[in-house]
Amino acid sequence: METALQRFLPAPEIVPERLHRAMRYAVLGGGKRVRPLLAFAAGELAEADPGRVEVVAGAVEMIHAYSLVHDDLPCMDNDVLRRGKPTCHVEFDEATALLAGDALQPLAFQILAEHVLADSPEAQFEMLKILALASGSRGMAGGQAIDLASVGKMLSLPELEFMHIRKTGALIRAAAVLGARCGHGLDASELGRLERYAKTVGLAFQVVDDVLDCDTSTATLGKTAGKDAAQEKPTYVSVIGLARARALAEELRAEAHAALASFGARAVRLRELADFIVLRKF
Ligand code: IPE
Ligand code: IPE
Ligand code: MG
Ligand code: MG
Ligand code: MG
Repeated sequence: METALQRFLPAPEIVPERLHRAMRYAVLGGGKRVRPLLAFAAGELAEADPGRVEVVAGAVEMIHAYSLVHDDLPCMDNDVLRRGKPTCHVEFDEATALLAGDALQPLAFQILAEHVLADSPEAQFEMLKILALASGSRGMAGGQAIDLASVGKMLSLPELEFMHIRKTGALIRAAAVLGARCGHGLDASELGRLERYAKTVGLAFQVVDDVLDCDTSTATLGKTAGKDAAQEKPTYVSVIGLARARALAEELRAEAHAALASFGARAVRLRELADFIVLRKF
């Protein structure tokens, strides 16, 4: 994945060098790569060509990296540390970080358009649409808007779930669905079960992110700990408390496993990823 991302990104010596360096800084050399891993695991389930999956995994990771660059800007979460390094706007400057995000987003769609990923053009258009919906105002960007509008407010549990499913869940779901769509091994009902799994681990991912923000150190996380409480963000921890948030993550892990039950050994990687997403320490 690292090599593929290097290849998809513009070389640092291409003009405008500073922008290209900032894009590479944001994407390369860090991160857990959970979304690519999910794409590969779902691709395996659907007997997809790994060369195709590498492209969708790279595209989703670019959208994710862009969302982190913008999330860290002073106008959003105002963070100085990301993946154990200074955030993009600290290392470069705010305007460059804004543009790096702006440029990473279309690059994701460019690489999806430049490679053959499906057996028909119609199926490939559908894949582009899946990533667009997951990234836009009804997906990640919409979730981020709700997050910012909710500062200092007490959300109800359904409102919190609505926000998390969008800001984090949408892209995670897209990673798995796109990985599977690179293959042709899944029928509609199997795809439905994979979607249920992906939606569940997407929500679990942000529940655990909320827990880690509250109970793990900055050194371990590679990003500033305790900032949700400091910034009065509504999170699973602030709404239901740490113990219940941890219990909910466990419930979601069980739900994710249940969605995969009928797949047998083909879904071993997806099961491992549900465990990783819930049991991770960073
Ligand atoms: C952090 O995502 C932001 C959220 C969507 C919760 P990750 O925890 O996947 O960040 P990296 O990619 O590993 O740095
Ligand atoms: C961000 O959620 C989700 C994104 C879409 C980037 P957070 O604001 O909780 O992510 P961190 O904790 O800064 O990584
Ligand atoms: Mg945020
Ligand atoms: Mg943040
Ligand atoms: Mg967080």
